[in-house]
Amino acid sequence: MTDLKDKKILLVISGGIAAYKALEIIRLIRKAGGTVQCILTKGGEQFVTPLSISALSENPVYTDLFSLKDETEMGHLRLSRESDLVIVAPASADIIAKMACGISDNLALATLLASNKPIFIAPAMNPVMWENPVTQDNIAKLQARGIMQIAPCSGAMACGETGTGRMAEPEDILEIILEQFHTYKPLSGYKALVTSGPTYEPLDPVRFIGNRSSGKQGHAIATALAAFGAKVTLITGPVSLPDPFGVETIHVETAHEMMLACLAVRPPDIVVCAAAVSDWAADIFSSGKIKKDRKQKPPSIALKENPDILAMLAAPSPHRPQLVIGFAAETENLLETATRKRLEKKCDWILANDVGTEKIFGADENHVYLITGKDTEDWGKQSKHLIAQKLAENITAYFKSTDIQIAAE
Ligand code: CTP
Repeated sequence: MTDLKDKKILLVISGGIAAYKALEIIRLIRKAGGTVQCILTKGGEQFVTPLSISALSENPVYTDLFSLKDETEMGHLRLSRESDLVIVAPASADIIAKMACGISDNLALATLLASNKPIFIAPAMNPVMWENPVTQDNIAKLQARGIMQIAPCSGAMACGETGTGRMAEPEDILEIILEQFHTYKPLSGYKALVTSGPTYEPLDPVRFIGNRSSGKQGHAIATALAAFGAKVTLITGPVSLPDPFGVETIHVETAHEMMLACLAVRPPDIVVCAAAVSDWAADIFSSGKIKKDRKQKPPSIALKENPDILAMLAAPSPHRPQLVIGFAAETENLLETATRKRLEKKCDWILANDVGTEKIFGADENHVYLITGKDTEDWGKQSKHLIAQKLAENITAYFKSTDIQIAAE
């Protein structure tokens, strides 16, 4: 992944509690070698101070459209013209609405309207505001005009409510910025299918069998393959992560739905099954809530086996993808069991990870071994993002070494 040396980022910080995360974005951009100029709106000033922003960015902070000094020295046109990329983080419902209407009554809005550079917005707001059709219409309008959205996450909000609207994490925002400058696209022309997250198998209208998968590893792989130029379809079970930027994302709930969604995708060249698919579903779904009867023993649940998606996609067939990669999540005999799984499921490679010794589910780091049939490599403990990138590099090397022609679009 390229760094941000010689890259100038213009960061617009609007009002919202997530403005504090803008400080971390500045720090990460600087750490990656980039320079940051910041515009702070009046709303943003309620949450972070110009002093902390200028101390971190080591640049003046711009706030006022009618500041004679700013307009003489820099001007709202030059602010955006001199940058390589503009990012609005956090993007409040208010600034999104004003951008959608072309309002330009402050420095941030005038600069955005006058910009001819790629613009990203990282929305952050209360879930009801986010889901309001007005906000969704505004987002759609901006997207139709080429403004790119870094989708918000779901989870607990500062306001105490739960839902979608939390700004993407600074590390993920940096990743997207880095990808913009990533010119190395060795997988351009290849189609990839990635599964991610858990599956939920309903028992009755309120209960399900699920697992602890966060989807972080699968989503990172989809992101990395897209950054390498592949056309990626991600099929994900229920997760609280935003859809990866530039990846077609299909949301499913059960293993059965995941299988159907995988089969509906045009035959890919690369498959990575990172989903923690539930091995079993309830044999009989109870259409009414299963009631507790204190006089009876607790009910037993009959299970039926779910389809094995990885084995299905890796099975010999004229449409079999050229490279099928699975994961093996094990609590004991890691390498032995993973090696056996690779042969049983007929996949080309398996990434083995030990889920017994340390907290892996939901963590940002993972320790995997790549088993290819020819050899086994210990990749050590590292971030799920770096593992995803290393996998994309290995996939690239595989296609180069086998000299397989790039699939026609
Ligand atoms: N997998 C799949 N469909 C299933 C079960 C697993 O596609 N119904 C895939 C996973 O995405 C992963 C690999 O198979 O790439 C291995 O999953 P894992 O949970 O480690 O193994 P299982 O096959 O489920 O076997 P077990 O749970 O007995 O270890």
